[in-house]
Amino acid sequence: MVFRSHLRELRERFREQKSVHEIIRNIASKNGLDPLSHEFALYLDDNDELKHLREEFSFPKVSECVPKDVVPIISEEEAVYLSGNSLGLLPKRTRKLINEELDVWATSAVAAHFNHKFGRNWANIEDQVISKLTGIVGAKPIEIAVMNTLTSNIHLLLASFYTPTQSRFKILIEENSFPSDRYALESQIKFHGYLLEAALIEIKPRPGDITPEIEDVLSVIEKEGDSIALVFMEAVNYHTGQLFDIPKITKAAQKKGCIVVWNLAHAIGNVELKLHDWNVDLAVWCSYKYLNSGPGGIAGIFVHEKHAFEFDRPRFAGWWGHNRETRFLMNKSFQPIPGAKGFQVSNPSALDMVALYGSLEVFSQTNMSDLRHKSYLLTGYLEFLLDENLHGIGYRIITPRNPHEHGAQLSIMFDELKAEEIINALLIRGIICDERKQTVLRVAPAPLYNRFSDVYKFVNALKAVLLEK
Ligand SMILES: Cc1ncc(COP(=O)(O)O)c(C=O)c1O
Repeated sequence: MVFRSHLRELRERFREQKSVHEIIRNIASKNGLDPLSHEFALYLDDNDELKHLREEFSFPKVSECVPKDVVPIISEEEAVYLSGNSLGLLPKRTRKLINEELDVWATSAVAAHFNHKFGRNWANIEDQVISKLTGIVGAKPIEIAVMNTLTSNIHLLLASFYTPTQSRFKILIEENSFPSDRYALESQIKFHGYLLEAALIEIKPRPGDITPEIEDVLSVIEKEGDSIALVFMEAVNYHTGQLFDIPKITKAAQKKGCIVVWNLAHAIGNVELKLHDWNVDLAVWCSYKYLNSGPGGIAGIFVHEKHAFEFDRPRFAGWWGHNRETRFLMNKSFQPIPGAKGFQVSNPSALDMVALYGSLEVFSQTNMSDLRHKSYLLTGYLEFLLDENLHGIGYRIITPRNPHEHGAQLSIMFDELKAEEIINALLIRGIICDERKQTVLRVAPAPLYNRFSDVYKFVNALKAVLLEK
């Protein structure tokens, strides 16, 4: 029996508590295929309901990615791109949208703020982007603003929501947080006159482990929660790929009276999010990873509706956060827009906005549930092939094995080799992934554009590289 749809198969089997590895073996055996064969990878590609979305993207060429002095003979082929967790690919429609904006700028100039020939008036261009983000983060339009960049948004939100008192002044983070988050939070603590030793609490993994246990996060919250002002965590850790249980941690921290902030840099467009229903206080994200908005693309924030009218909070204001009806009357007194948009400071770059919009139009052709289910299978297939092909070669996957505790990314650590050497050897074979902290290879098949055969090629190339060493 041929299964046209892995997604349906996967949903049914997940309901029966089957592991992704079992599901993969099951699909292969039902179709008389060897699960380790190239033929099986092609079968999965062929039956991928979302395969058409790949056509929306431009893929880098191996010849453009490998420095000429490293390898003299370089293929003109498309690279196998597994770095969507770092920088997503260019959606083809983005080029058209940007060209349209340049055209409007050339022909309408300032008039396009209120009369844009493609219907994207610059004065409120963010609305169209927000309407496409609501389903991706699980939020109402009032809860989202598209603005600035990630780290600057952390500072802007903390200016309002980190208001330490003598008894509640601590910030809880994961020890292995992305450095920019740490720098931002530490500088906020110092700005308010507290000592880091007293005010920064770090969640650490247990001795010998690389990722912390959720029970340990909850127990620190339970123990220290009364003095914690802010719990700030990456929903998916950049290094290990660990996905945290957002609703559970949020609930536990709020029970103790803490404000909870989630950094969605590696989660948005990758895993399903229901920020409103989970009662998350605040979230921040960048959009250049799984959201494919381009290098340094415009970021976003989520402020739960319950905080929408808290105008008494301190705020670093700017005219784009001011009441839209009267913004251009140039009044002296600031009247914040209720909700997330009240935290906007400056008028946004229309070019950045449409760059993000182009990708969101691709997302609109599917939904996060289908993408996530493809991702369970695609990343599960990666894990399966690694386990089957590379055992005994001195590597380990440091990402939690439970598919509900990671997104697209798996992080692989090697016993002896430097990740950088492997990256370069893979690059020569036309495969792009990245490394962090010199020891970890990060591999992220993005369900929007990666194929099962990409994963197959990667694992076989990695095996060849490791056997050569
Ligand atoms: C988890 C996390 N936090 C913060 C940042 C910094 O982002 P930005 O340079 O857009 O402020 C990144 C960038 O990759 C990130 O992954």
